[in-house]
Amino acid sequence: MEEKEIQEVVSLPRIGDPAPSFKAVTTQGDINFPSDYKGKWTILFSHPADFTPVCTSEFMTFASMEEKFEELNCKLVGLSVDGLYSHIAWLRTIKEKIEYKGMKDVEVTFPLIEDITMEVAKKYGMIQPGEATTKAVRAVFFIDPKGIVRTIIYYPLSLGRNFDELHRVLVALQTADEFGVATPADWRPGDDVIVPTAGSCGTAKERMESKDEMHCYDWFFCTKKLDEEKVWKAIKK
Ligand code: BEZ
Repeated sequence: MEEKEIQEVVSLPRIGDPAPSFKAVTTQGDINFPSDYKGKWTILFSHPADFTPVCTSEFMTFASMEEKFEELNCKLVGLSVDGLYSHIAWLRTIKEKIEYKGMKDVEVTFPLIEDITMEVAKKYGMIQPGEATTKAVRAVFFIDPKGIVRTIIYYPLSLGRNFDELHRVLVALQTADEFGVATPADWRPGDDVIVPTAGSCGTAKERMESKDEMHCYDWFFCTKKLDEEKVWKAIKK
């Protein structure tokens, strides 16, 4: 492979970068990304191929959860390097024939991008040649209402994603933005959150002696309560 070609294949937006823009044909009509999604969160995700089992289980799961993402002002946008007619046939098969884990008659109403040229997949680093040169890996990009990439997660071809985790990531990102906090390991709404580090929030001594609801494990590690109800009220539409 030529050096330029390799660079193109591995180009990758990073967290904090503006989401690379593109125009594409999808199962829901043409889109202009990310400008069509201004003011909304978006999860742009890729799958390796239509008519494959792991991808089918993923699409059924994601489509069944779409409302939970919608409540958080978040749109889903899928992509694979298959063509539009393959996408349409696959989604119709899912709806008409597949019953899986209690899910049936599942209609995928979010757009699925056709990317036969791999132009979009290459822009987003979804083609990872060590894994596959002709298929996208399972990439997930969380893009905020200003069009900034906020989280990137990659899975290999053989590993189906955990969609509860993708929902948790979105909730945590929105909570961090709304309340100016960070979220600790395995955080869920209702758990304590991490308050900003010393310097932005008083001196270390002040923080350790603070009488408010903060709990400091040490000068650099302070948490406070944040009610679950307050979280949902702030982030749910
Ligand atoms: C699948 O979705 O089942 C799959 C797709 C590509 C490679 C391996 C598995």
